[in-house]
Amino acid sequence: MYRLLRPLLFRLPPHAAHSLGGAALSILDALHFNTPLNLSARPIETMGLTFAHPVGLAGGFDKNARWPHALASLGFAFLELGTVTATAQAENPRPNLFRLPADRALINRLGFPNDGANAIAERYQHATRSRPVGVPVGFSIGKSRSVPIDALDKVIDDYRASLRAIAPVADFVVVNISSPNTNHLRALQDRDQARRLLAALREELGTQALPLLVKVAPDMSVETLDELLTIIAELNLAGIVATNTTVSREPLRTPKGEVEAMGAGGLSGPPLKASALRFVKHARAFLGPKATIIGVGGIETSDDVNRYLDAGANLIQIYTSFIYEGPGLPRRLAQEWARGLQAREQP
Ligand SMILES: Cc1cc2nc3c(=O)[nH]c(=O)nc-3n(C[C@H](O)[C@H](O)[C@H](O)COP(=O)(O)O)c2cc1C
Repeated sequence: MYRLLRPLLFRLPPHAAHSLGGAALSILDALHFNTPLNLSARPIETMGLTFAHPVGLAGGFDKNARWPHALASLGFAFLELGTVTATAQAENPRPNLFRLPADRALINRLGFPNDGANAIAERYQHATRSRPVGVPVGFSIGKSRSVPIDALDKVIDDYRASLRAIAPVADFVVVNISSPNTNHLRALQDRDQARRLLAALREELGTQALPLLVKVAPDMSVETLDELLTIIAELNLAGIVATNTTVSREPLRTPKGEVEAMGAGGLSGPPLKASALRFVKHARAFLGPKATIIGVGGIETSDDVNRYLDAGANLIQIYTSFIYEGPGLPRRLAQEWARGLQAREQP
């Protein structure tokens, strides 16, 4: 079905197609449509949560927590909603979202448009009070655009406010310090800033056993990654999400001139896969078997899923391939993963 619709959808500007997709999800949500995914596979246990299979929705698709039930009904084993910020904010000026069909990739510089952490937490709580989503749901928190990056105390207060708002409704929280679309946000990945921010968020949680993960950029050096992983281990955080989009523009089939005309932003999809996989492998070796590692970047097929799991990921997420392949993809990947597992266990 999506195969037939996609050429039409892809004729629309990306934002119009996204709105149409959102409308379809809202309808799905209102219909309480839910075909359970019956997998005869052992569930995955990590960070104290249970996942029916490894395939989740990546941060940024449902920024305002509008469609959690509909997304779960498509077969995702877990969702990461947001990124939310303490202050509601609009998107960056358009155009801010581009398709690169020759690479099955996207470039975006949306810049965390969202309704604000409090409003989103309230919406989510209201929607799920009498109707649980049925899969683990995490929230991604980011920095409000209005807070200057060099005022670290204010930045920390800003993240703390988001965490306070969403902690009561989240099964896990992802600290996003890796989006390329909020000015200099990635400076927070540097050792001293990261340590102060993450220690403050840990402290904010007190005795609450809410898993905290850190989402990293694929553009940092191995040294910076190691410093960050050291802090994650020292603070006993749950783990990492690897990776966010890249500012690199290699390797791409789309002509250079076209890519340059799109301008700044994060590149997602298959061109990201090699570096994200490298980060997953490195993080697993560094953090050991107990940490939770969520792999994300360019996953399109069950072979990709297995490559990430073999590299050490407990779970994986998709975004760009969901846009290119459509709503059947999570279910398909889950079923193929379960079949592969069965084949491996009963050769
Ligand atoms: C349009 C768009 C918006 C995104 N917004 C966010 C976001 O708000 N927070 C976040 O952590 N990641 C965001 N991401 C990054 C994805 O979560 C993911 O890390 C990245 O796209 C790589 O996965 P993919 O190749 O499967 O798309 C966004 C990606 C895209 C394409």
